[in-house]
Amino acid sequence: MIENTGNVFKERSLCVAADFSIDEKKYLFEKTRKLKEAWRKNDYQTLNRFRINDMDFGIYEIFLEDSTRTRESFRNAAEFHGVKLSMFNSDSSSFNKMESYLDGFMTLAGYSNRIFIVRSRIEGLCRWLERKGEQFAERNYLNYKPAFINAGDGKHEHPTQELLDEFTLIEDNDWRTDSLHIALVGDLFHGRTVHSKADGLRIFANVKVDLIAPPELSMPIQYFNRMKENGFLLREFHSLAEYLSQPDIAPRFYFTRPQLERMGDRILKRQDELREAITFKEEFIQKLPDPGSTFFYHPLPRHKVHPTIPTFLDDMPLNHWEAQSINGMYIRIILLSVIAGRIGEDFQGESVPVKNYADDFIREVTPDNSKPKTLKEGINPLANGVVIDRFCRGESKEDIWDYLHKTMKIMGFSRFRGSIGVGESKKEPGVYKGLIFLPEVQELSPSDIRRLAAVTAGCTVNIIKDNKVARKLRLTSPPRIYKIKGTGCTNSDCISHDTHSENIPPEFIRNEDGTLECFYCGTSHRFKDIWK
Ligand code: NCD
Repeated sequence: MIENTGNVFKERSLCVAADFSIDEKKYLFEKTRKLKEAWRKNDYQTLNRFRINDMDFGIYEIFLEDSTRTRESFRNAAEFHGVKLSMFNSDSSSFNKMESYLDGFMTLAGYSNRIFIVRSRIEGLCRWLERKGEQFAERNYLNYKPAFINAGDGKHEHPTQELLDEFTLIEDNDWRTDSLHIALVGDLFHGRTVHSKADGLRIFANVKVDLIAPPELSMPIQYFNRMKENGFLLREFHSLAEYLSQPDIAPRFYFTRPQLERMGDRILKRQDELREAITFKEEFIQKLPDPGSTFFYHPLPRHKVHPTIPTFLDDMPLNHWEAQSINGMYIRIILLSVIAGRIGEDFQGESVPVKNYADDFIREVTPDNSKPKTLKEGINPLANGVVIDRFCRGESKEDIWDYLHKTMKIMGFSRFRGSIGVGESKKEPGVYKGLIFLPEVQELSPSDIRRLAAVTAGCTVNIIKDNKVARKLRLTSPPRIYKIKGTGCTNSDCISHDTHSENIPPEFIRNEDGTLECFYCGTSHRFKDIWK
């Protein structure tokens, strides 16, 4: 974490919940609280301190998926600010003429539009636009960098809903953030609002989450694991009936709607049965230990024929989803205010650390040429060339052969004379490794070495000159794998996936546990899964 000076919020994009630090969110919530107070008291002087008030400041709402609350609360928030607000009409846009998202958005960014609020079924779109927007602004000498706010991307995340949910939970907890026990109920598989909770709820010091969903709609493993890594206590239940028949019931329930539009036919056929498991029934009221201090939340909308929080609940003190929805406008006013740089200079605290991807995955070691050795390629001594050793050490023999063939192709080694093989470690019998001999290759370029590190997930490169190891490089898996041909995110909803033809180079960030996370949509992959 780093200490900041100046306005850390200005021109920031918000693509996922983790893009803002806990301190930054606390700052936003404090300001939202003040704004609400001023609103209640008609205190215009205070309200004006939040206002952008600049008719040349462009805010664009681009909703490529349906919305009421998110779009309209942002629209009302932008109206409060007195800015130039545009609502994009996607039905009659050039996206229908096969224009790329990038070209479309950058066109609008050129017309003095500084903040984009984007909803789409394509996951990771804002992350891509954030990166390219900066380059576009530089190239075209704009005096601003466009910021992109993710207003929901497919089944990925919904970070501004997360902000308003957290604000409401904290407000309802007398502004304390020491602990939270919450039940997340419903379509946890497709629901982006609950996915954003995996990082978002870290704002509470002690978090206990009860996940209630039938197995078909359960929380995807990557968010489940993230919650665990973040220290949340987790329990899983398959239905509300099962949950309510045990003694430890949360005082906060967060319901979500079955996301029918994202379900495949197989699950859709069973929608009645699945809905049954996550719908609150009248007889459940008496099972709540303290109905007076149990609060229900829902990002809305709810289905008018099959609501999971039926309308008989509306008049009960359980109903906190209305207050939650109202908070949406206030929090979004503050969000626009900080990104515009109108407020934020008085922020003190820690921001999200800037990621830097160290180059220490390539380590030059001194070759040991003390003992005379004859390096062989098959049966011929190898006097000059490149030998790659310890390739995919520890993987199964089948996998090693598979990677060897892939590597030869990806690295373009197939055009040289050479050989490949799978050997057993002398020191550790039963542990296998791959070997590549390339007598025709005399040197590898730095970019070849980086690619090799990514492809082989750890190996040793020996450059042989006159029967001696002239250079020896130990490669470990790099912290970031990018622009490598033959790789790709497996999530077909990801902006970088080939099906969208956006021509985006795939990029993966390595997690501590060795899994590779797509830079755009966050899907986590095992090393072997990123190869097409
Ligand atoms: C949610 C969304 O769009 O993700 N709604 C919202 O933004 N308030 C939830 C949903 O659609 O079910």
